[in-house]
Amino acid sequence: MGVKELCALVTGGNKGIGLETCRKLAATGITVILTARNEINGTEAVEKLKLSGLSDVVFHQLDISDQASISAVAKFVETNFGKLDILVNNAAAPGIVIAKPDELRSFKDGAAFGEVADKYADLLEGILVQDYKLAEDCLRTNYYGVKALIAELLPLLQLSSSARIVNVTSNYGELHFIPNEEVKEELGNVEHLTEEKIDGIVKWFLKDFKDNKLKANGWPITVSAYKISKAAIAAYTRFLAKTYPHMIINCVHPGYVQTDITSKTGPLTPEEGARAPTMVALLPDDGPSGLYFYEMQPSAF
Ligand SMILES: NC(=O)c1ccc[n+]([C@@H]2O[C@H](COP(=O)([O-])OP(=O)(O)OC[C@H]3O[C@@H](n4cnc5c(N)ncnc54)[C@H](OP(=O)(O)O)[C@@H]3O)[C@@H](O)[C@H]2O)c1
Repeated sequence: MGVKELCALVTGGNKGIGLETCRKLAATGITVILTARNEINGTEAVEKLKLSGLSDVVFHQLDISDQASISAVAKFVETNFGKLDILVNNAAAPGIVIAKPDELRSFKDGAAFGEVADKYADLLEGILVQDYKLAEDCLRTNYYGVKALIAELLPLLQLSSSARIVNVTSNYGELHFIPNEEVKEELGNVEHLTEEKIDGIVKWFLKDFKDNKLKANGWPITVSAYKISKAAIAAYTRFLAKTYPHMIINCVHPGYVQTDITSKTGPLTPEEGARAPTMVALLPDDGPSGLYFYEMQPSAF
């Protein structure tokens, strides 16, 4: 794909992996629309990139959980660029509060989030805290928000001759984290996946969360909403790729990165964390679609 006159939009571009993805895309000569829900933080991030010599970066406010904000950014893209070539859905909500970051950092000999599995649920009690409100916010952002933004921008992506959608998911969205076999089978069966099926699973999860039935019905019991949100958006990625075969649509785990979402635990810097999402955004025109990349390599959902 030649980068001349290409235009990319990145969500959650004010910090972390999103900011570094903007930097990398802009460094290739692509015009980047850096979006952030907080106007001041987003404008400051654009200024930072401009000071480092990257001039083709513009800011627009975008809260992906707010339909009016989504419509406004789509209007902005249409008016100023007439099409969109690359959409990087990077923004996400954690669905948890890290109540004791120092204990998380020293958890399992420093493995921190790398070891947050249900078998350690008792040990993690009080270190990671989740409740229904956080779970709802997580699904509203990471699943419904990403879907709503894609829906609004699809007509502009369809005007591009090399459209790419990159959904930044997580290894926590891998299906082996879900004990419920029925859910695992439905989300993993790409032939029979539909948007309604994925929506139904997300609704079922939230109802069980509210009714205190996570364990009883085989949902993940640690970092529950985040895991389900990322599994759901990974499944949605496959469904979209099947529906729009002329676009390149993939999801990617960026690695375990020192950002706010992990309380700055993890071995990778944000710059290193941006490498895989950027690589997936810049796949060639004959590149693969409907895949999950674990960092730089295609991997099993
Ligand atoms: N760090 C890791 O180890 C890791 C591992 C796997 C996957 N990921 C994924 O990588 C992506 C980037 O995360 P990160 O590590 O860079 O974390 P981060 O530094 O905490 O960044 C999260 C970004 O999402 C934004 N955001 C949250 N809710 C939003 C909303 N409703 N509308 C718009 N923006 C919103 C945040 O904005 P504010 O600044 O306004 O809060 C922030 O810009 C996420 O999808 C995350 O799930 C990260």
